[in-house]
Amino acid sequence: MSLTHEELRKKFKSFWEKRGHKEVPPTQLVPQNDPTTLFTGSGMQQFVPNLLGEPHPLGTKLFNVQHCIRVQDIEEVGDNRHDTFFEMMGNWSLGDYFKKEQLNYFFTFLTDKDGGLGLEPKRLYVTAFEGNDHIPQDKESIEVWQEIFKGVGIEAKIGERIFLYDATKNWWSRAGVPENMPPGEPGGPDSEVFYQFDVPHDPRYGKDCHPNCNCGRFLEIGNSVFMEYKKLPDSTFEELPKKNVDFGGGLERFLAAAQNDPDIFKTDVFNDIVRRIELVTTASYSDPKNQSSIRIIADHIKTAVFIIKNGVFPSNKEHGYVLRRLLRRALLKLRSLKKDFKSEDVSVIARSVLSTYGGIYFDISNDESKVTVVVDEEMKKFEKSISTGMKLIEKMQSVDAKAAFDLYQTYGFPLELTEEILKERGHKIDRKAFYEEFNKHKELSRSSSAGKFKGGLADHSEQVIKYHTATHLLHQALFDVLGNDVKQAGSNITGERLRFDFSNSFTPTDEEIKKVEKIINEKINKALPVNFKIMPKSKADKVGARSFFKEKYGEQVKVYYIGETEKNIKDAYSKEFCGGPHVKNTKEISKLKIDKFKKIGSNLYRIYAI
Ligand code: ALA
Repeated sequence: MSLTHEELRKKFKSFWEKRGHKEVPPTQLVPQNDPTTLFTGSGMQQFVPNLLGEPHPLGTKLFNVQHCIRVQDIEEVGDNRHDTFFEMMGNWSLGDYFKKEQLNYFFTFLTDKDGGLGLEPKRLYVTAFEGNDHIPQDKESIEVWQEIFKGVGIEAKIGERIFLYDATKNWWSRAGVPENMPPGEPGGPDSEVFYQFDVPHDPRYGKDCHPNCNCGRFLEIGNSVFMEYKKLPDSTFEELPKKNVDFGGGLERFLAAAQNDPDIFKTDVFNDIVRRIELVTTASYSDPKNQSSIRIIADHIKTAVFIIKNGVFPSNKEHGYVLRRLLRRALLKLRSLKKDFKSEDVSVIARSVLSTYGGIYFDISNDESKVTVVVDEEMKKFEKSISTGMKLIEKMQSVDAKAAFDLYQTYGFPLELTEEILKERGHKIDRKAFYEEFNKHKELSRSSSAGKFKGGLADHSEQVIKYHTATHLLHQALFDVLGNDVKQAGSNITGERLRFDFSNSFTPTDEEIKKVEKIINEKINKALPVNFKIMPKSKADKVGARSFFKEKYGEQVKVYYIGETEKNIKDAYSKEFCGGPHVKNTKEISKLKIDKFKKIGSNLYRIYAI
C-alpha cells in the first residue's frame, strides 16, 4: 500500500509541530484584497505582508497546506504531472532560521523512515542558483547540500548531484524572474529537490538528462525559496528587513515519489475520480490513448468543484470565465471518449471529488447539492449552445475562420467542435486566422484575466495600500448607516479602484450610500492613526473585531484598528481581522469617492470607490 494523502497530511503536521512550527489555516482560493492573481497560487500568498516585514500573529515559524489553482498551467495538463488544482505543503521561517536548517529539515522530511516519507537519498537531486550580475551564486546552499549528502554516504559533486541554474530556474517570485518583478515584490534565489524515477532519458528532450530536463525522469518535489530581496522602483534590489524561508512542495508529487511512480493521477487524490471517469465513459485509463483526456477531465472537474465551493458561478468574466472554460473543456473531452456521453454524468464525477476530499475541504451534506446544481445548470447551457451551433453549421456551405469565430462568440460554440465537424467534411480551420479574430474582439475582462493567468503582476503600490485601509473604513461606515445586518461578501483592490461586496436585508438608498461616503471622508480628514495588535482569536471577537465569514483563522490573530487613541482598541472606530498592510494614518488616503453602487444578486450589493 502506498502512502495515502491522509497519512501524508498527518506526517507533515507532526513533523513541523515537533520542530516548533505553528499551523496556519489555508486561505481562500479567491484571494481577498490582493489583486495579484485570480486564484491563490502558492502557500506564500497569504504571507506576502509577513515576508515584507509585518509580524505574523502565530510567530516566526509556520506551516500550512494550501489548496492552489494555477490556471496558467492549463495547457500543460494532460501529461503525468501537471494539474491546475494542487495542494502546496509549505513551511516558513520569518527571519528565524535560514538555509542550513531549512535544507536539513526538508531532507529529513523526505528521507526519514518514521517521521517522513522514507525516500531513498540516492534518488534525490538538488539545484541551486548559479548567480548573475546583481545577485551572487548561492554558495551556502551548495555547501549545505554537500554536507547533507556526505552524511548519507553520497559525494555530492556539482553537475552530478547538485546542479546550478540561472534565474529562469533558480529564482522564485510570484512574477517569475527578477526582471518581471514589479516594485515592492519579494523574491530570492531558491533550491529545488528532484526525485529520480526509473524512467529512461528521452533524447528528444536533449542529449544529456538533468533535473530540469522535461523528459519525465526527474520530478521537482519541493522548493526552498530564500526570500531575502525586494524589488525597488529603479529595478535594483534591496535586502528585506529579515531573511525568510518560503518553502512549498506539491502534495500530489510527494505521493507520486512515495509510490515511486511519476504519474500523479495514480495517487489516491485521483484514484476515485479517475475510476469514476472510466465508469461513465467505459474508457480505460490503462490504455495510453485515453490517458491525456482522462487526466484533463479529472483535473478540470476537480478544479471546477473547488472554484464552485468558493462561491463562484460560471460567467464570462474572470473567475467565472475560468470555471466555465474548465467545465466545458471537460465535457468536450468526455465526448471525445464517448460520443453519446450524457452531460448529467459530469456531476457524477464531481461527486467523487467531494468524497475524495470529504472531511478536509467539504461538508458533503451541504456542499454536494450546491456543487451539482451549478455543474448541471452549466452543462445544460452548454448543451444548448452546442445544439444551436450544430444546426447552424449543418446549413453552412463553408466555414471559414471568421464564421467559426462568430459561432464561438455568439453561441459559445467551441472551436474544437467546429474543427471536428469540418474534419468529417475533409476541411480544416485556419487556427491562426481564428485567433486573430479572437484577439480583435477580445473582451476587456477576458484579456485582463488572461494577463492574470500568466502569473500576474503584484501590486504593492501605495495606492493599493490606501484602498485597503479605505476598505476598512467603508466596511464600518456601512454598519453605521445600514445597521448590523451588513455582511462582507468579498473585496478586491487594484491600483485603480476598490470593490466591495456585501449583503444586506434591504436595498440601501442613494442617500444612504452618500452618507456612507461622507462618513468615510470625515474619518479620513480626522487623521486617525492605524495600528494593529496581535491577540487570541477569542479576545479579538470580544473587542468586536470584524472577521470575514469565509476565511478561517488561527488561534492568534492580527487585528487592525483605526481610532483616535492608539492604545484603546475597544473604542476604535474600525477593527478587523487582517494581515495588512495599511497606511499609518487615514489622512494619507486624502479622499474617497463612491463611484458606483449596484445590486448584483438577491440581497447582494457592490460598491466601487476611487
Ligand atoms: N513559493 C514557492 C513556490 O511556489 C515555494 O514554489
